[in-house]
Amino acid sequence: MSVHIEAKEGQIAETILLPGDPLRAKYIAETFLEDVEQYNSVRNMFGYTGTYKGERISVQGTGMGLPSIMIYAEELITQYNVQNLIRVGTAGGMKEDIKVRDVVIAQAATTDSSAVANTFNGQVHFAPIADFDLLKAAYDSGIEKGLNMRVGNVLSADRFYNEELDKKKLADYGVMAVEMEAAGLYTLAAKYNRKALAILTISDHLITGEETSAQERQTTFNDMIVIALDAALK
Ligand code: HPA
Repeated sequence: MSVHIEAKEGQIAETILLPGDPLRAKYIAETFLEDVEQYNSVRNMFGYTGTYKGERISVQGTGMGLPSIMIYAEELITQYNVQNLIRVGTAGGMKEDIKVRDVVIAQAATTDSSAVANTFNGQVHFAPIADFDLLKAAYDSGIEKGLNMRVGNVLSADRFYNEELDKKKLADYGVMAVEMEAAGLYTLAAKYNRKALAILTISDHLITGEETSAQERQTTFNDMIVIALDAALK
């Protein structure tokens, strides 16, 4: 048991998928995994372990924002020895050439969160980056499936509602999309020498206003989960 996860030792696999929404964790476990066992319901932040193509894999909700995902990632790493952590989530498009339904792999995660700056006492601006092996495996899997894969910098924003932040400028600097967790996950993975990746589907576009239907979002979400699971097996 850890503070926020009630799993017993050995109940969580070495590789884990991390959606923000705990009901997405439930959906992923029920739809993609076999022999599923639920190991967590503390705060309704559901966690499950099952098998995918015969390999053990877990899926855990993280909640929204760096503070929340950093609780779960820290406990998964330090209390349950999880090695590979793959966030699966949605993001808002920022660069004009990013389209809804694109699958964005966060090669790096820029952030306005103090959580990363504080880790280095403000001495440097640490650049949180993805694990290259996981990134390559996910990218290759997506390309094989004919998906629009995009790789680059994302913004892990502290606030969902933030008119003060100049997102246009960030887009001009190549930041493709905004979400709220990757930078925290990558920083902890770096701290503990683990592998991390964030794969994101674009649900809406902040600049163009483009949106997807619920059905399209679900289809792209399913594609992304298969990419994540394929990457997890490699
Ligand atoms: N902001 C932050 N996170 C998001 C967004 C957004 O606009 N869309 C999907 N995740």
